[in-house]
Amino acid sequence: MKIFNYSTVVLALLCSVAISAQEPVQVTVNEDAEAPMISKHIYGHFSEHLGRCIYGGLYVGEESMVPNTAGVRNDIIEALKELKIPNLRWPGGCFADTYHWKDGVGPKSERPTMINRWWGGVTEDNSFGTHDFLNLCETLGAEPYLAANVGSSTVKEFTEYVEYVLHQGGSPMAEWRKENGREEPWNVKYWGVGNEMWGCGGNMTAEHYANIYRQYATFMTDWTNSDGIFRIASGANVDDYHWTEVLMRDIPKHLIEGVALHSYSFVEWNEKGSSIDYSEEEYFSTMKTALKMDTLVTKHSAIMDKYDPDNTIALVVDEWGGWYDVMEGTNPGFLYQQNTMRDAMIAGISLNIFNNHARRVKMANLAQTVNVLQAVVLTEDEKMLLTPTYHVMKMYNVHQDAQLLPVDFDSPTYGFEGEELPAISISASKTEAGEINVSLVNIDAHKSHTVKLNLGDMDVKDFSGTILSSDDLQDHNTFDEPEKITPKELKKVKFRKGMLEVEVPPFSVMVLTGK
Ligand code: AHR
Repeated sequence: MKIFNYSTVVLALLCSVAISAQEPVQVTVNEDAEAPMISKHIYGHFSEHLGRCIYGGLYVGEESMVPNTAGVRNDIIEALKELKIPNLRWPGGCFADTYHWKDGVGPKSERPTMINRWWGGVTEDNSFGTHDFLNLCETLGAEPYLAANVGSSTVKEFTEYVEYVLHQGGSPMAEWRKENGREEPWNVKYWGVGNEMWGCGGNMTAEHYANIYRQYATFMTDWTNSDGIFRIASGANVDDYHWTEVLMRDIPKHLIEGVALHSYSFVEWNEKGSSIDYSEEEYFSTMKTALKMDTLVTKHSAIMDKYDPDNTIALVVDEWGGWYDVMEGTNPGFLYQQNTMRDAMIAGISLNIFNNHARRVKMANLAQTVNVLQAVVLTEDEKMLLTPTYHVMKMYNVHQDAQLLPVDFDSPTYGFEGEELPAISISASKTEAGEINVSLVNIDAHKSHTVKLNLGDMDVKDFSGTILSSDDLQDHNTFDEPEKITPKELKKVKFRKGMLEVEVPPFSVMVLTGK
């Protein structure tokens, strides 16, 4: 048992203040002509037919009292546009390998129903289908990422899907699309060839899937992939490096453009705990799994480098985010959870990791957009709220398609019961217009850190910034108090002679912009 007395606590506090005051974190921000662009697709999202993500979330139907465009809530459309959502992955997830796309096109009244067997066993009426999704992406200005069925489909069903969506005319599927009201093909570049094929996609071995993948990828397009399709192979579960090794080794390069990776942050997989009522111990464990993303991306990239030294195949982290127990009283199969400052930390550090690995990571998709897992939007009847994660994604969108500025620094640590984690996470970039953006996260639950960034002779006159912080780690927005946590203007940013100095409070995320 630990025993603290008043003087020990005071001494510890004084020390921490002294450390923070005496030892600022020294960061060098480098300009490197060889550094990669941060693809805007790292800021992608994922909407599955799961719980209230699509039905009763994004999609309320045209007859709904909630203002909508073709059945999709207008407030969500506006929020996602503000976010500059670059791409949206659909319809799953595990749902993808149960989904038969033909059931979701044609007159809605004639569409068959289906049982969503992975998520709650509910009956869906297929009223939100391919036209609805692709038209929504056009409204949002987002690129669609269709995760298509391999596990319970056939090569014929899959290739007909491609034909339906992409072909101009003169083929049975393109003509059927026209009959269903869409004359021109859509522009769909990103296609997922199944999802989690090691699990809900068919419980396959990597070797078996690599062969199946080759077959599907061959028939999706022609000899030269003149359709310009970006084929994404279903990737590894967390640290299953063998999976990536086999895909990279066994799939010829002309058949693949991306390899996926899924990794979630949690306390313990079998004991996830509450999304709002958690201890510091649980917070610390969640941060540990979130930070593990750096190791995962580094190691999967190293395998890819071995087989693809020219970096032609992208690492696509198409599912990431925090995963906790569902909110009390909600359907366990619906994965509805709240979103606190802990989630803001996950978002901030994950996006920094992806930015810093932009050479190989070309796309990532937060799970999920509405009412499921680490959602950016929550709804309750006609009400909608934006979560702390939404605000982080929006603050960070300045990095989209900007050039990475690699950073060097030694992070101070955040310790808990004998274990330590790096407290500070940073990424930086330069836009085409020459604006410098630096995103900083301090995951420490107690200590603030002074961070000094040396920008050398970069051409910047002044810096301003925004911060997302709150009094308590467990704070979150509710339908009664939807704006408890919103970004605020950062008052104290010092910038002189190329040196930027800022105080980063405990569990806060900030973005500094220099012009
Ligand atoms: O995002 C929820 C589920 O997590 C997805 O359906 C699946 O791909 C993953 O296991």
